[in-house]
Amino acid sequence: AQSLPYAPVPNQRRHASKHRLFVNELSHALFEFVVQLLPTTEELVVKEDVRKLLERLIRTIEPESRLLSFGSTANGFNLRNSDMDLCCLIDSVERLSASDLVVMLGDLLERETKFHVKPLPHARIPIVKLSLDPSPGLPSGIACDIGFENRLALENTRLLMCYAMIDPTRVRTLVLFLKVWSKRRKINSPYHGTLSSYGYVLLVIYFLVHVKNPPVLPNLQQLPPVRPISKEDTHIDGHNTWFFDDIDLLCQRWRSSNTETVAELLIDFFRYYSRDFSYNTGVASIRAGMLKKESKGWQNDLSSSKFHDSRERNRFCIEDPFETDFNVARCVTREGLYQIRGEFMRASRILATRPRALVALSQLCEE
Ligand code: GTP
Ligand code: MG
Repeated sequence: AQSLPYAPVPNQRRHASKHRLFVNELSHALFEFVVQLLPTTEELVVKEDVRKLLERLIRTIEPESRLLSFGSTANGFNLRNSDMDLCCLIDSVERLSASDLVVMLGDLLERETKFHVKPLPHARIPIVKLSLDPSPGLPSGIACDIGFENRLALENTRLLMCYAMIDPTRVRTLVLFLKVWSKRRKINSPYHGTLSSYGYVLLVIYFLVHVKNPPVLPNLQQLPPVRPISKEDTHIDGHNTWFFDDIDLLCQRWRSSNTETVAELLIDFFRYYSRDFSYNTGVASIRAGMLKKESKGWQNDLSSSKFHDSRERNRFCIEDPFETDFNVARCVTREGLYQIRGEFMRASRILATRPRALVALSQLCEE
């Protein structure tokens, strides 16, 4: 008998290959999408110059000080025009208090630079806020916060950077995409009851370490250390900040057996956080996996209307990797959480219809 030019594909296989095609196309598009949004070399150079200039000025007040970047400028998750988070460390024993420094530095910067300066000496963490108007070389200007002695933030920045280094393509693409998506969908604003970028990054890492099976990332805080560690070296303000940070060595010894594409991980991320995460009782901890609100004393006490504030604080719980008594999602309100979960569901719905990749991305990030 004459054979057909193409063997008929059984339904299931055709389905599987259509799915393959969809996720491959979407992975490629996600990658291209985030590459376009990375900062230009010029922007990075200007920001580094700004950091050096500010460091020089601060040293006229505190000669033994260093000004270090943290947050997205330092962890590999920075997008074009993201703000600069700077932390001033002072190595001398006798130093001014953070609020005094904020006031003095505020005055100095006002006199000596073109920045708009806003000192906040009485904030929970005293900072100086700076901004620079847009110019031809810097079309979006610069926004910068300078804090003092925030060593935990420097360490959590390093932890996130190490996670990004283990699997740069998948981790960075996912994180950067979710940052853009959450900003465009207006659910990235702790001031308005939704979640900070830092919170979203922790959700991604939690998902890759504890939800995916096999995991995409190891748990850097639970790997056995290669050499003895002493408490003085690893504790900051009573918090254990140790994690396995020799990523070269790690990559020689450990390799994820999870081979899913970025698109598959993204689809599953949205599915997990729209359907499966226990918002009412669970705490996402990248250090320890899924914890119970009860075990941390973080339950929503819905019976007592008196403690309105504490009730609102623990709607959504994400444990800080080092400050384990700190809920990174404490600013998320009831309405904020409703909005965030709604967005996870919306994204899941869009992806379930398997539109063409570019259509999917523009629908997902529609403003
Ligand atoms: P974009 O500014 O949106 O680009 O994101 P980002 O990656 O800089 O994150 P974000 O501005 O949310 O946070 C910057 C850094 O501040 C984080 O990397 C943390 O080091 C620190 N940080 C932010 N929020 C918290 C928090 O609630 N607790 C602690 N301990 N650190 C925080
Ligand atoms: Mg930032």
